[in-house]
Amino acid sequence: MCDCFVVRPEREQDRERVERLIRGAFWDVYRPGCNEHLIVHRMRGSACFVPELNVVAESDGRIVGHAICSRAQVETGCDKRFEVLCFGPLAVSSEFRCRGIGSALIEYLIGEAGRMGFRAMVLFGNPDYYGKFGFRDARHFGITTSSGENFAAFMAMELKEEALKDVSGRFFEDAVFHVTDEETERFDRRFPFRKKRGAQDNERF
Ligand SMILES: CC(C)(COP(=O)(O)OP(=O)(O)OC[C@H]1O[C@@H](n2cnc3c(N)ncnc32)[C@H](O)[C@@H]1OP(=O)(O)O)[C@@H](O)C(=O)NCCC(=O)NCCS
Repeated sequence: MCDCFVVRPEREQDRERVERLIRGAFWDVYRPGCNEHLIVHRMRGSACFVPELNVVAESDGRIVGHAICSRAQVETGCDKRFEVLCFGPLAVSSEFRCRGIGSALIEYLIGEAGRMGFRAMVLFGNPDYYGKFGFRDARHFGITTSSGENFAAFMAMELKEEALKDVSGRFFEDAVFHVTDEETERFDRRFPFRKKRGAQDNERF
């Protein structure tokens, strides 16, 4: 198995493979089954989609990782909005983990987003992992979730110096993230059947 990989924009013909990869990486991790493959599927057809920031890691012709950023908003006052990027989902195939692929995808998107002129990135994720790339608790910038909360997993990063200096308010990701269980069930029928952990297994997670 080759340890080398390249990061490049996703192509149309990659889409199904990417969705299978995302489903495999997220399955039963944060909830029974997962919905991240549907979120990415919808993102591509939405106004929040930025094709340059939808990327894969490829190794020996195989797609082994995927990451995406979408347009999102911080509502800073009456009818005032500041555009930011929402980072994620990020997925690396389980056999290819801990080889720097996730890091390379994150660094690629941070670099490319900055070059494109985006000013800041927001995400929900593990602070131990994302802290290494410069993400900080969003509280530091005065940004809360849409429901006004702050917690360690809710993080932000400036892509330009002091870009968030005068920006504070509530963060709203695009509506593509709001998928229902029924929509996920229906979409999931396109993929090979996979058993989900049951509610009785919840205490393990
Ligand atoms: C998170 C994920 C993308 C990391 O991919 P990866 O290619 O293995 O990442 P890297 O090789 O760049 O980094 C690996 C390091 O991060 C750590 N790490 C991986 N996932 C982590 C997590 N969720 N929280 C904290 N640390 C994590 C590993 O332990 C490893 O640490 P080390 O370098 O000290 O050995 C991959 O584990 C994955 O697809 N997970 C399932 C989906 C998911 O949770 N996505 C992120 C949602 S926020």
